[in-house]
Amino acid sequence: MTTPLYAIPGAPATSAPGVTEAAGVAPPRTVAQVLAQSQVEAVLDELDRDLVGLKPVKQRIRDIAALLVIDKLRLAHGLAAATPSLHMCFTGNPGTGKTTVAMRMAQILHRLGYVRKGHLVAVTRDDLVGQYIGHTAPKTKEVLKKAMGGVLFIDEAYYLYRPENERDYGAEAIEILLQVMENQRDDLVVILAGYKDRMDTFFQSNPGMSSRIAHHIDFPDYASDELMAIAERMLAGMAYRFAPEARAAFDEYLARRLQQPHFANARSVRNALDRARLRQASRLFAERDRVLTEADLTTLDERDIRASRVFAS
Ligand SMILES: Nc1ncnc2c1ncn2[C@@H]1O[C@H](COP(=O)(O)OP(=O)(O)O)[C@@H](O)[C@H]1O
Ligand SMILES: [Mg+2]
Repeated sequence: MTTPLYAIPGAPATSAPGVTEAAGVAPPRTVAQVLAQSQVEAVLDELDRDLVGLKPVKQRIRDIAALLVIDKLRLAHGLAAATPSLHMCFTGNPGTGKTTVAMRMAQILHRLGYVRKGHLVAVTRDDLVGQYIGHTAPKTKEVLKKAMGGVLFIDEAYYLYRPENERDYGAEAIEILLQVMENQRDDLVVILAGYKDRMDTFFQSNPGMSSRIAHHIDFPDYASDELMAIAERMLAGMAYRFAPEARAAFDEYLARRLQQPHFANARSVRNALDRARLRQASRLFAERDRVLTEADLTTLDERDIRASRVFAS
């Protein structure tokens, strides 16, 4: 029996089951062949299309994909077989797209055969660390079990390390994570996420973690025109749109909101749109006998935006 040198789990079969092996699938020799077999290009194109801005992030993801594709081709020549270290760190302010990109990354890793399932398990400290002695190891192991075959996304990972607290169980979780990141890296990719400065401090105190992270990607804040484009894309995705005056009002809304504390980039945009949709619904709800057209039902008007508290001050 001949075992194919290279197979991508989950990739569409090009021939009937069983036939493949008998015919002997040739290992890929070109980038195009790996891309075609893995359908990774589709994920990269979607990433480009669906997400506004993030140019440096998209480029980094492409670079990592290129590395993995070339690695596959090297493997087909019997070169360096060791699994590349794929653990990553995504830094940036809230709402800059870290979780969203991590999900795409999981898909890419899956399509290229680096993880079996390609799902993403998103956790924070509380999911990993127990309150009492003996609780942390089982909690962490349970999460790892769920994430196996995919990506474990640890949001605000630095909270695992609390040096001010002598008896902190976070250290125990870190120990277990480090072991798994080393020994099971052929089936689990860990992505740490959080604010850049806190992550830097965390790595300084945890060199073991730092040395296991192969890729650091920084997510910049969005510029206001990008936030506007994100808003329009979100609305289109929900079959809503701005009336022209509403669009202008939202532009003004963003300018004001950006000056206020706790602005969370695309997340704040999503929340603002959710509230505007609520106001639109209440406005329409009040007009009991009017026939509501498709335009009525899909259009956010200026009032729906200007009623925000942001305009009050
Ligand atoms: N570049 C972007 N284009 C379109 N939508 C985006 C973009 N970045 C983030 N979003 C949306 O904003 C919301 C918050 O993004 P998320 O990935 O959760 O950010 P983070 O994990 O950095 O806090 C999600 O609904 C996401 O789909
Ligand atoms: Mg997030």
